[in-house]
Amino acid sequence: MIEIKTQHLTKIFEQGNETVNALNDINLEIEEGDIYGVIGMSGAGKSTLVRCLNLLEKPTEGEVYIEGQNLLTLSEDELLKKRRNIGMIFQHFNLLQQKNALENVCFPLYLEGVSKQEAHKKARGLLERVGIADKEKSYPSQLSGGQQQRVAIARALATDPKILLCDEATSALDPQTTASILRLLKGINADLGITIVIITHAMSVIKEICNKVAIVEDGYIVENGEVQEIFANPKTKAAKKLILNELPDEDVAEIKISGVSANVGQ
Ligand SMILES: Nc1ncnc2c1ncn2[C@@H]1O[C@H](COP(=O)(O)OP(=O)(O)OP(=O)(O)O)[C@@H](O)[C@H]1O
Ligand SMILES: [Mg+2]
Repeated sequence: MIEIKTQHLTKIFEQGNETVNALNDINLEIEEGDIYGVIGMSGAGKSTLVRCLNLLEKPTEGEVYIEGQNLLTLSEDELLKKRRNIGMIFQHFNLLQQKNALENVCFPLYLEGVSKQEAHKKARGLLERVGIADKEKSYPSQLSGGQQQRVAIARALATDPKILLCDEATSALDPQTTASILRLLKGINADLGITIVIITHAMSVIKEICNKVAIVEDGYIVENGEVQEIFANPKTKAAKKLILNELPDEDVAEIKISGVSANVGQ
């Protein structure tokens, strides 16, 4: 089933007399259960693209469908309800600094009118799911980056979303912590069947967990498809630059020698 679909999605920012075409005619289909990577250089339009998927950013033109429902036709109330199906996590975690881990996870539940007792019960289960049950009383400033991102993931899962959007969720973390968060996301995808969209600068993140990838350049999707295919045979200059520049040396050598590599993208 197609979980997320965009049709002719275009976003133009006007600032003073400057016009930025952040997204141009984006046609994307993300299937249920995909871990879909979005990669591109800084300023390419990646964040704008995911922000359009839950209408945090309103498209200038085009449509966004979630499970076949056109978000642009929904009323404000219907959109709020639909957004509960779409969790989001960010590079800088965006936790409430004055609240402990447990209360951070409870926050979206309180917004839904869930009682404190029920919210605590659910939040404790989620903190356990993300591996930090022992930190429920800690405040964000008392947690490492990786632990804060785990709280943010638990909070994003509180409303039982079908989709999780991750904007540079591991960019502030060291390689080891990044690997542990990616394992967690992979587990969430496998166990809960949540469709995940991951924006990243890092090719290694795509390689680690994504099954599909879109390469964004100057507001256009220049290439997209199965990670293995794109990695083995990047066609556009942008894809070649990203893939060949950023892979470890041994992988690059392998691609150059064989043309196709069985190891790349697995
Ligand atoms: N609110 C805004 N007003 C004006 N221009 C904007 C706005 N948000 C983004 N842009 C512009 O749109 C383009 C795409 O920005 P976006 O943040 O989507 O890029 P990105 O690929 O996420 O970059 P990065 O990797 O640095 O996060 C950039 O040229 C940016 O300056
Ligand atoms: Mg961005």
